[in-house]
Amino acid sequence: MAEGRQSIHGQWSSRWVFVLAATGSAVGLGNIWKFPYITGENGGGAFVIVYLLCIALIGVPIMMAEILIGRRGRQSPINTMRTLAVESGRSAHWQLLGWSGVLAGFLILSFYSVIAGWAMSYVARSGSGVFVGLGAEQIDEIFSAFLADPTSLFFWHTLFMLMTMFVVARGVRSGLEQAVRFLMPSLFILLLLLVGYAMSTDAFVTGLEFLFTPDFSKITGNGVLVAMGHAFFTLSLGMGAIMIYGSYLPQSASIAGTTFTIAIADTVVALLAGMAIFPIVFSNGLEPGSGPGLIFQTLPVAFGQMPAGAVFGTLFFILLVFAAWSSAISLIEPAVTWLVENHGMKRLTACLVSGFTTWLLGVGTVFSFNIWSDATLFGKTFFDLLDYLTANIMLPLGGLFIALFAAWIMKRDAVRDELGFKQSVGFRIWYPLVRYVTPVAVVIVFLNAIGAIDLG
Ligand code: TRP
Repeated sequence: MAEGRQSIHGQWSSRWVFVLAATGSAVGLGNIWKFPYITGENGGGAFVIVYLLCIALIGVPIMMAEILIGRRGRQSPINTMRTLAVESGRSAHWQLLGWSGVLAGFLILSFYSVIAGWAMSYVARSGSGVFVGLGAEQIDEIFSAFLADPTSLFFWHTLFMLMTMFVVARGVRSGLEQAVRFLMPSLFILLLLLVGYAMSTDAFVTGLEFLFTPDFSKITGNGVLVAMGHAFFTLSLGMGAIMIYGSYLPQSASIAGTTFTIAIADTVVALLAGMAIFPIVFSNGLEPGSGPGLIFQTLPVAFGQMPAGAVFGTLFFILLVFAAWSSAISLIEPAVTWLVENHGMKRLTACLVSGFTTWLLGVGTVFSFNIWSDATLFGKTFFDLLDYLTANIMLPLGGLFIALFAAWIMKRDAVRDELGFKQSVGFRIWYPLVRYVTPVAVVIVFLNAIGAIDLG
């Protein structure tokens, strides 16, 4: 029986450590960097509502499925999928799901690290007081000059990859726990402070209206796909990250309870980031749809104006780097565990191999902001393509198959057992969700987006 299976890579010391680690994985650049800018690009309130619906109806049920698969298999996602499929008398080809997850992890981390590098360089910049007293225009110039310089983007990307691989090489459990326990609450408090600053601007209400008043004429089929893709991205779903973390989860922990905690924490952080950023955007006459630079063009304005802004700015970007760090680790962990399990590599060697590959791929993203910024396919740069392919296609497809696997391939009793619902009503809600609602919803969003794609 699967209950007896143990992961060779270890186990979390308690359910609480799992919640911290999984929250550390979920809360990252997705919440603070990506959520505000895609909300800005997709018109605001209506996009936010679609995103929240996707979290509740698609993200939460799939997160439960992903954790339970991980805990039942207790290996790297590739081997877990194979073992569980064979155990249920199905094809070993299900391991392809693990493969696509490993690939998605490499692709995402390669650009994630470059953006985390931006945040690192902003730690240094805020610390030296560069932003003090500057207006939005000058701050925008600083950002553009930074992007135009591949050497410095490359430097920070390299540093961030080294930091990530350092933790992964030591095993995700050591060190991570302390970091997340202390840093996540601090990040939360700083975000509250920024929302406090946003309240003092003359556009707080305008910002909130943008974020929370839906105008459904502003959302397109593609916008709905982006909202769904982001639900996967922000909860770290669809590529095996949560699966591998689930594989270290003690058998006694409640999967539903932990999932709710993680999803709520993640959503609150994203909404707070939006509440901090949009008032600053509107009170400075900035453009909400200005793209991936949004937080780097807006938050420094706030830090430049508030009392002790250099201190708070530095602290904020440090915490953002830590949030990115604890997310980055989970992007590469599935690949590393697989190299250890199937190639008998030492953890360190596995880290060097996978870290180097990711780092190299990151060069494409570095260049896409400067020397390759005109090299586009379907109007998208290398970075845009990677982001679109992973968040809007690979993760939702991965999630779809995870839901199908838990609901149609694994035995009902095994699933029920693993979830360990104390009350059967929980299972009676969840099971039809993953069996019908979630897969159908993902497919509808895909078809809707294909219908909406304008090839002309
Ligand atoms: N969720 C993280 C964020 O919002 C990014 C991340 C970490 C991720 N692990 C992942 C995204 C796995 C997709 C899949 O910043």
